Amino acid sequence: MSDPSLHAIEIHLLLEALRLRHGYDFSQYTRASLERRLLALTETLGCASLLELLPRILQEEAFVTEIIAHLSVPVTEMFREPATCLALRDRVFPYLATYPRIQIWLAGCASGEEAYSLAILLQEEGLLEQTTLFATDINDPALNQAETGSLPLDRLQHASRKYRLSGGKGSLLDHFHLQDQVATLHPDLMHKIVFAHHNLVTDRVFAETHLVYCTNVLIYFNAILRKRVLDLFRESLVRGGFLTLGAQESLAGSDVESHFREIDPGCRIYRLHPPKPASSLLPPLVPAS
Ligand SMILES: C[S@@+](CC[C@H](N)C(=O)[O-])C[C@H]1O[C@@H](n2cnc3c(N)ncnc32)[C@H](O)[C@@H]1O
Repeated sequence: MSDPSLHAIEIHLLLEALRLRHGYDFSQYTRASLERRLLALTETLGCASLLELLPRILQEEAFVTEIIAHLSVPVTEMFREPATCLALRDRVFPYLATYPRIQIWLAGCASGEEAYSLAILLQEEGLLEQTTLFATDINDPALNQAETGSLPLDRLQHASRKYRLSGGKGSLLDHFHLQDQVATLHPDLMHKIVFAHHNLVTDRVFAETHLVYCTNVLIYFNAILRKRVLDLFRESLVRGGFLTLGAQESLAGSDVESHFREIDPGCRIYRLHPPKPASSLLPPLVPAS
């Protein structure tokens, strides 16, 4: 691709085709990483130019699923950020325990390994029974994989150390059924997770939640889209609810920052300002004249 302006036009046409025909809007994703992924896609498919993809995008539903899967980077692992898991366990779960029903939204769950991890931590703290974990993504193949509850045994073995660093209390393997080098999460944990297609760019809030967990997703979005998504999270949270962004992302400089208090700077765990105590809602006393 020698002419950069031609390349920019091709990208624009491809993104417009995805948006107009299928409702997927990638226009507010950070450009550099999107371009890298599009370039890799043309190489994988053996295409000379992005324009070759246009007819297939317009006509083949299955091809679009493949493209979305490729553009959305569904890289994940269990207990990916042990320090964040430990902080949740120590600093957030005690508050969640005060609710009779807990709803958690894991946005951008990829193939579900973080959802499995959170379910395990919640079960070990005795909170899983009262919890529903909504795990959402736009990547349908990744969601289909997540719904199987399974992963290769060697990935699980690799996660054991991180599980312990996350404050894991037993043996990670105890939470899985093992067969033929595949580990499958026990049904009592899987039943508490609802995997669903939800697009952070276009969809609305679908539940009132006590914790929103969204790591390694906002890094792909520009400032406009980050604002939309952070507003969505704020709208979804109950007063006093928690937002976890993980080590890579932060609320610093965003419009919603003033609505939250940072409770763990390293792991970027925030709390939506809790309701004011009843007494502070009373009008100020006016001294008698
Ligand atoms: C790098 S993965 C992070 C997965 C997981 N949160 C973690 O930290 O391991 C980014 C995920 O965000 C998802 N994603 C990207 N754009 C999205 C959107 N508009 N709505 C919902 N999920 C999206 C991708 O499909 C992908 O699974």
